[in-house]
Amino acid sequence: MIPAAGFGTRFLPATKAQPKEMLPVVDTPTIQYVVQEAVDSGIEDILIITGRGKRSIEDHFDRNIELERRLLEKQDEILYNELRSIEEMANIHFIRQKELNGLGDAIYHARFHCRNEPFAVLLGDTIVDSVIPCTRQMIDAYEQYGQTVIGVETVDPSKVDRYGIVGGDKLSETILQLTDMIEKPSIKDAPSNLAVAGRYILTPEIFSALEKTPRGKGNEIQLTDALRIILDQESIIATVISGKRFDIGNKLDFMKTTIEMGLKRDEFKAPLSEFIKEIAKNL
Ligand code: G1P
Repeated sequence: MIPAAGFGTRFLPATKAQPKEMLPVVDTPTIQYVVQEAVDSGIEDILIITGRGKRSIEDHFDRNIELERRLLEKQDEILYNELRSIEEMANIHFIRQKELNGLGDAIYHARFHCRNEPFAVLLGDTIVDSVIPCTRQMIDAYEQYGQTVIGVETVDPSKVDRYGIVGGDKLSETILQLTDMIEKPSIKDAPSNLAVAGRYILTPEIFSALEKTPRGKGNEIQLTDALRIILDQESIIATVISGKRFDIGNKLDFMKTTIEMGLKRDEFKAPLSEFIKEIAKNL
C-alpha cells in the first residue's frame, strides 16, 4: 500500500497543482521508484491511496494509446517499450482519501483491500536506494519474527522532531524489540534517535487500533499512535534499513536525490560529474 494523498506543503509552490509523488527524479516520477521497489520485493498487488489533485498518478500507470501510437510511428521502440513496461509493472488499484485526516486515516482506507493479510506500506514520497530492495528487507524480517515490522534509520538528534521515533531493546545488530514509539517528539522526549523511515509491514490489527486512535500531532490520525496502541497488546520489531533514504517532500533532499540518482545513470555520470567539479571550484 502506498499512501500518496498528502498536500505536499513542504514543497510548495511546486505542489500547488501537482502531486509531490509525481516530482521527477532525473526522468522518473518519485512514485514509480516506490512502485518499482515493491515489485522488486516480490509484491504484485499495489493499492495507492490518492486524493484530490492526484489524477496524474493514475494516468501515469495507465495506458496512453495515442502516445504509444506516435512512438511506434516514429519507430522509437525503446521509449515505446519503456512506457508499456510502466503500465504492466503490477496490478495497481486506487482509493481516494476524501478528507486529509493524516497518514493513519489513509492507511484505514485500505481495510477492505487488505482484509486478513499482513501488508507492506511504502510512503510515496520516500525513495530508498539499496542493494536488497528495502521492502524485501522488511518482508524478510516479518518472515523471521512474524510481527509488525517498522523500518528505521539513525538520524541526527537535532532532527528527531521531524519523524516518528522508536525506543527498544536490541535483539541483534539490526533488529530491535520496540518498547516505545512517539510521533515527532522534542529532543528531550525522544526515546532514541532511530526514526521511522517510511517503510512498514503491518498486520490487520492496525485497522482496529486506528479506530481507537485519537487525533494526535498536527490534529491528524497518526499511524505512529495506532502502532503505539498495538504495542500495548503485542510485540513489534524495528529493523534498521540498509540503504540510502531520500525524502522527496523536502526541497534540499530532493535536490541531493536528483544529483545522486543522476550520477548513477551511465548517460549522465561523466557530464554531470564534470559540471559538479566545475561549479564546486567557485563554492
Ligand atoms: C511520516 C510519519 C513519520 C515518519 C515519516 C517518514 O511523517 O508520520 O512517523 O517518520 O513519515 O518520512 P510525515 O513525513 O508524513 O510528516
